[in-house]
Amino acid sequence: MSKTYTIAMLEGDGIGPELAVEAIKVLRKIEETSDVTFEILHGDFGGAAYFKHGQAFPEETKAICDKADAILKGPIGLSFEESKKIPIDEQPERGALLPLRRRYNTFANFRPVYLPPELAHFSPLKPHVVEGGIDIMMIRELVGGLYFGKKEVGVNAAGKRYVDEHLEYDEDQIRAIMVVAFDEAMGRSKVLTNIHKSNVLKSSVLWNEILEEVHVDYPEVEVKHVIVDAAATALVLNPRQFDTMVMENMFGDILSDLAGGILGSLGLMPSACVGPDKAYYEPSHGSAPDIAGQGIANPYSMIGSVALMLDKSFGMKEESRRVWDAMRSVFGDGVTTSDLRDPEGKFTILTTSEFGDRVVAAL
Ligand code: IPM
Ligand code: MN
Repeated sequence: MSKTYTIAMLEGDGIGPELAVEAIKVLRKIEETSDVTFEILHGDFGGAAYFKHGQAFPEETKAICDKADAILKGPIGLSFEESKKIPIDEQPERGALLPLRRRYNTFANFRPVYLPPELAHFSPLKPHVVEGGIDIMMIRELVGGLYFGKKEVGVNAAGKRYVDEHLEYDEDQIRAIMVVAFDEAMGRSKVLTNIHKSNVLKSSVLWNEILEEVHVDYPEVEVKHVIVDAAATALVLNPRQFDTMVMENMFGDILSDLAGGILGSLGLMPSACVGPDKAYYEPSHGSAPDIAGQGIANPYSMIGSVALMLDKSFGMKEESRRVWDAMRSVFGDGVTTSDLRDPEGKFTILTTSEFGDRVVAAL
């Protein structure tokens, strides 16, 4: 019996549309080699959507996302100059991305930091530091904390402009992300690194308290506690010591970009954003307006997001694995795109679309 899944495809801004084309090629190839059909519905989202509809997350797009089984989203965002043409609250990040996260309560953000041997040359770290490869799953809470807390801006009694921005979590929110993190650790090495700042922040004190409560249900998992600033150093000095990591929203935003630096590019960072009823998948990077339309952006992060979607939304673990392996083997052939670091100039440079074709061929 063949099965049909509906995917909302939100191409986004900048390099988004070119990456989306490659993701769709991969999905079509998966259709050929499985009994699954993908119905792909396109929705405008981000800066381009604002200029077309006056809204960064238009009602039509919401309707498409509501009925889709999963959402695949390209990067969004405009250049600094272009952004200024849009009212602050409709700018793509505040007007589209955060509302998408809130709408589907996608609290669990999975950011794989994956550096197999075929990609090792991209890392700016010394070979002995990354030798043996890196395989970390960063789990970032995505709908709480500073991003979604109360915000107030104004002028105080002394006539000074001020801002008041809150870091808010309740115990249910923390418990939900902890359960996700412990489950993930159970399926991996059974070691969970907790990132916190409980020496300063009360939010981290509660975070750690809930962690201990959830830990009782996972006696097999060993928990290590690392303070967030120390974690930044440790990730650079010895990333191989980490496996599953859990952290609140803002810490995760920063450390996952640092992780992109370890790999050599944010272009190597796909992600999954999972809620109770729906998930969306996106590259962790921005829309790179400076290189948009040139066919030089590597589609890895978008195709990796497809791999995560196959696994987490459609239960297609085998196909997901094949997509990761296909991308590894393409890099293993000594090719790359010109946006990805190739310090010694040893690799053959392909266009975005040629790279996608190679992945499809490897599949
Ligand atoms: C990310 C991005 C977003 C975030 C921006 C675009 C709002 O940097 O997904 O990490 O800060 O969460
Ligand atoms: Mn970020």
